[in-house]
Amino acid sequence: MSETLTGGVDEAASDVPGYPMTRSARCPLAPPPQALALNAAKPLSRVRIWDGSTPWLITGYETIRALFTDSRASVDDRLPGYPHWNEGMLATVHKRPRSVFTSDADEHTRFRRMLSKPFTFRRVEGLRPAVQKIADDHIDAILAGPQPADLVSALALPVPSLVISQLLGVPYSDAEFFQEQAHKGMGRYATAEASAEGAVALARYIAKLVRAKMEAPDEDLVSDLGERVKADELSVREAAQLATGVLIAGHETTANMLSLAIVALLEHPDQLALLRDTDDQKAIATAVEELMRYLSIIQTGQRRVAVEDIDIAGEVIRAGEGIILDIPPANWDTKQFADADQLDLKRQDNAHVGFGYGRHQCVGQQLARMELQIVLHTLLRRIPTLQLAIPMQQLPFKHDALAYGLYELPVTW
Ligand code: HEM
Repeated sequence: MSETLTGGVDEAASDVPGYPMTRSARCPLAPPPQALALNAAKPLSRVRIWDGSTPWLITGYETIRALFTDSRASVDDRLPGYPHWNEGMLATVHKRPRSVFTSDADEHTRFRRMLSKPFTFRRVEGLRPAVQKIADDHIDAILAGPQPADLVSALALPVPSLVISQLLGVPYSDAEFFQEQAHKGMGRYATAEASAEGAVALARYIAKLVRAKMEAPDEDLVSDLGERVKADELSVREAAQLATGVLIAGHETTANMLSLAIVALLEHPDQLALLRDTDDQKAIATAVEELMRYLSIIQTGQRRVAVEDIDIAGEVIRAGEGIILDIPPANWDTKQFADADQLDLKRQDNAHVGFGYGRHQCVGQQLARMELQIVLHTLLRRIPTLQLAIPMQQLPFKHDALAYGLYELPVTW
């Protein structure tokens, strides 16, 4: 196979499958069948993306973990060969300041340290009573309202949005604005214009907030970042870029995970009963880990580019070639997980990669886990007769977004 050093463009190979791959309409909760079939043959293969280049798609569990921790696989999206998500991300690459998502090594450590404080296990556990109250209030409103109710707009989206707004210090009254801007730039096929428009509007909004918090600081992450700007550790643009990343990553992902988890549980009544009928925090936590593995919502691959040759799983990824770390098939890899296609809320030793792995592993994972544990358990307890208002196959799944989820989730009880 002929390859160039700038992303592995290979016009000759017409048999290279296209990426991203789509989940099946019949089994919409399972990873794309094509990705599972590729992984059954070998843990990495070439795929063709939107710009015609043919980066490596990593589907095997062992191989994905090895590359998540390999410093030769860079997240620097300015490097030639980096497999961009879409035209929009490519077009804005030199306009965006560096961030935790796009920096390697020491630069990454510097950014990451600035974000970690509010998301440590101890800090997050302290938020439990507040999150419980937010969840209860939303469920009260659902019970008092008409049927069918849409659980995306009534529960799955507002709960994580409220929590992340409070942590960051972003007024929740602006939630509709930031949800809309985030959504514009997050489409799988977002154009240059849509990405730029969403990113610029959000960055401006957050930069204004950073400046306001520098004048009147509060107990929140934007104020912390503002303090660092005052201490000349960070520019206002960098602070805004970091906060915007957390804002987007902190509500969209958890919201998608919540709505899909509700569907998965309703489709598996025996498993739903296990979660509903326990008060054991450890059992609830184990159940949430399995939902993370089973649903693997990050569906368009974490992107890397090789900065040196990497000899792995019988292939050589050459310097300058793109790498896509595809989490859903890795989390269903039968070499790692027995009965990987089964939802088993009691599964032990569940070292899934739903939050990634290695130095870029999710900053907000403790927060996401805590929100999922509280919201799912409370919902099942308080609305035990919950059911889908339409058949699962007819639900509007987000096949077109970077994170899989649902646009609407109509339910009755
Ligand atoms: C169920 C919900 C979530 C899922 C599935 C998820 C998934 C992930 C994954 C797979 C990565 C690794 C990216 C990579 O290696 O390229 C990541 C990174 C990240 N996540 Fe999450 N996430 C979730 C919730 C959150 C929340 C609630 C926050 C913030 C409060 C957050 C903030 C971040 C940040 C800042 C990073 C970048 C870390 C770095 O590059 O060092 N995420 N997330």
